[in-house]
Order: sequence, then structure tokens, then C-alpha cells
Amino acid sequence: MANLLVLGAQWGDEGKGKIVDLLTPAFDIVARYQGGHNAGHTVYVNGRKIVLHLLPSGILRGGTLCLIGNGVVVSPEAFLKEIDDLRSLGISVDSSRIAVSRKAHIIMPYHPLGETAIEDLRGEDKIGTTGRGIGPAYEDKAGRWGIRAGDLLEPAVLSEKIGAYAEVKNRVFVAYGLPPIDPKKIEAELAPRVSRLAPYIRDVSSLLEDGMTQGRSVLFEGAQGTMLDIDHGTYPFVTSSNPTAGGVCTGLGISPKHIHGVLGIAKAYSTRVGSGPFPTEIDDARGKVIAARGDEFGATTGRPRRCGWFDAVAVRYACRINGIDGIALTKPDVLEGLGEILVCTGYKYRGDLLKTFPAESWILDRVVPVYESCPGWSDSLKSAKTPDDFSRPFRDYLRRIEDLIETPVGVVSTGVERKDTLFLREKLEGLMDVDKVLAASSD
Ligand code: IMP
Repeated sequence: MANLLVLGAQWGDEGKGKIVDLLTPAFDIVARYQGGHNAGHTVYVNGRKIVLHLLPSGILRGGTLCLIGNGVVVSPEAFLKEIDDLRSLGISVDSSRIAVSRKAHIIMPYHPLGETAIEDLRGEDKIGTTGRGIGPAYEDKAGRWGIRAGDLLEPAVLSEKIGAYAEVKNRVFVAYGLPPIDPKKIEAELAPRVSRLAPYIRDVSSLLEDGMTQGRSVLFEGAQGTMLDIDHGTYPFVTSSNPTAGGVCTGLGISPKHIHGVLGIAKAYSTRVGSGPFPTEIDDARGKVIAARGDEFGATTGRPRRCGWFDAVAVRYACRINGIDGIALTKPDVLEGLGEILVCTGYKYRGDLLKTFPAESWILDRVVPVYESCPGWSDSLKSAKTPDDFSRPFRDYLRRIEDLIETPVGVVSTGVERKDTLFLREKLEGLMDVDKVLAASSD
């Protein structure tokens, strides 16, 4: 099967974990290209809820090679904990199945401390980050202060780098009222983790290239979502990496020619965690109903997610900048029985109808969404065995969304379990081999 990129078309939490887990058996390799353990990919297997933060969701399927690219920031502590947690569930995880790029930047113990201090100083304008040290690790990468996975393999180099960092950055730490970094303490803290992490540290770009040359297929797994992209999202209320399609090449060290198709994941409504503009946010009781039914609490931080109506302007924009060939629509079952469902078709700003998604967050904050009302559906989508079983109102809703986002909806997820997924074959032609996916996932 050709290589497929799966990414989020909204503000993250679109249900990527479930879709990646479902598609994985049809691929030989799953590769993550950005983000860190700020991500939370929830997968339900036989009624058991498993939340992955750093490891690609493909890890839940035996035999798949899982790669963590140079664009990811890696917390050794989080990485090892996730491995231990999976092992305790009887899932086989070892260095024959997982590799971390030598070039991936390491989240150091001092990164979360610096992040909390800065967030507090922002006061009302705080981003509402996950507090995992993601931003400071990327800051150090861009500032050329970063420590990369490959550096961990040579104690003398690591020691020198931490020492040089502390010498300069302690001035900043002290100015923030934080305890200064003690290089020896950091080294001692890292040492046992480094010895466990070392076997996983490899040249991921070459592993991918070799695999693809041997005909192995790759699923590229995005974390977060398009609207959280540092360049193309709702800056500054974004994460520090590029979840959008461009991030795949820089975050894994591969050519764009290796991406053969793009599947975007979008929820039938919108959610966002943390601060920032959110034009379709629902501030009446319906928002609370959706949040409760959809279990909309952050998989990483447990924070309640803000809920809003489906924003076709934002998703159309995501389809354009990522070259999305097809959408997997998740959680329409959450909207069952709501009577009326709103879809945002445009934004009004200073009396004009905006045709495109605005670049500035302060404009997005002031737009007035234009809504279209769609009749709700009361049938249980979960009981549909084929897309033909969908009721008329739901089929009309799907068609309307496709028109608005100018992209076909090829997958509909009607529940949390793997089996609650319907493929609209004619919409997925050229993007994925549905028979192969179904055969592989039933093994
Ligand atoms: P950071 O990625 O921890 O720096 O947080 C920056 C912003 O991205 C915050 O609004 C977070 O809530 C949001 N964010 C980060 N990871 C995720 C995710 O996996 N899902 C949804 N929001 C996320």
C-alpha cells in the first residue's frame, strides 16, 4: 500500500489515535514527525482505554516498526514510562520495534520549570500549555542550545553541553526566581534513563529510506492539529511544532515524494484545549451536553475541552494547506438527537464576509461566525453496518460538509471501538486500499 499521512484538521483531539490504530496493520512502519508527550492519543481495545503520549499509536499492533523522528521532542522519562506501562499490559515493546532519531531533541528536567515560570509571567495572556516542557525544548533547538538524543550516547559530550548551557542559562533561571541548574545533578538524574534509552537511538531517516526502498509502506502520524501549527495555526495560541504536512519531511528527514496521500481527521464538531480564539465555541447548555457525551477532557492534562460547532472555514483551510485527499469524520454519534446542528460556513469581520481563514488571531477573535442550520438525526449511527444504513439527515449533513470543505469524507467513525468505523470506498480510491485495511485489522 502507498504511504499515507494522517493528521488533524482542527485543534487536535480529533480522534487520530483510533484511526491510526485501525489503519496500522495495513502498514509496515508508523512514524511520528513532531510534538512530544503533550499529545494524547486515546485508543480503545476490547473495552480497555489506552492513552499514548509519545509512542506512535501503531505500537499497539504487533509487528509494526514505530519511529520517532527528529522533529519530535523526547522526554526520556515519559518515553520509558510509556514503555513500562505498555509492557505491564502485555504489549511487546523493545528496540526491535521502536527507534528514536539521533537528531531528536531531548526535553531536559529544567524545561518544564522554565515553561511554568514564563506562563505565569504572561498572566491573562497565557497560552495554556500542557506544561510538559515542549515549548522550551523547541526554543532551545531554535536557539542552538538543544541536547539531542545522539548526544546522550557520549557522556563527555553530554556533560560538556549541560555545563555550557547551565553557565549561560542560569542567569535567566535566577532572573525568573528559579533554582539554578546544577549540571552534576542533571547528569546523575539522566544517567539511568540514558542507559535504558540508548538501544532505541538510531538514524531514523536512513531506517525509513531503507524500509521504503525495500517496499515497506509507511503511515506518517501527526500529533495535535492544523490549528495548533506554529506557523499556520492560531498563533500565538499554538504548539511549538509543525503538525501540518510540511512537518513530515523536516521532522523525519525524507523527501515529499514519499507522501502519497493525506487523510485528515476532523470531528463532527470542534474542540480546543487551552486559550486562544475559537469562533464557533458554544456557550449554552448544548456545549456542555456535547462535552459530557463526547468525554471531552484533555487526554494529557485532564482539562475540560472547549466545545464548538463544526467550523467549515477552518477545516477547508486545513484541507488546502495540507493537501488533504479525504477526511475521516469522527464522533458524529455525539450529536445524535440534538434536533438542530449548526455548521459554520463563513466569518463576518467588520461587515465583510471573509473568504479565507484569517492569519491573525486577533482578527479571528473578533469574527462573527455565519451558521447554517442542519436538521439533526436521531438514528443510532453505531448500528449502521454500511454507509447505506445512514439516515437521510445524516447523509445530507455529510454531503453538506463535503461541499463546504471541498473534500470528500471517506471514513465515518461512529464510536470509540475499532469496529465502529465505516469506510466509504468510492471516496477513498487512490488513497487507501480499504480491503487491505479491513483484512489486516480483523487479523
Ligand atoms: P504545548 O504544546 O504544551 O506547548 O501547548 C500549546 C497549546 O497546544 C495549548 O493550548 C495546548 O492545550 C495545546 N495542545 C498541545 N497538545 C495538544 C493535544 O494533543 N491536543 C490538543 N491540544 C494540545
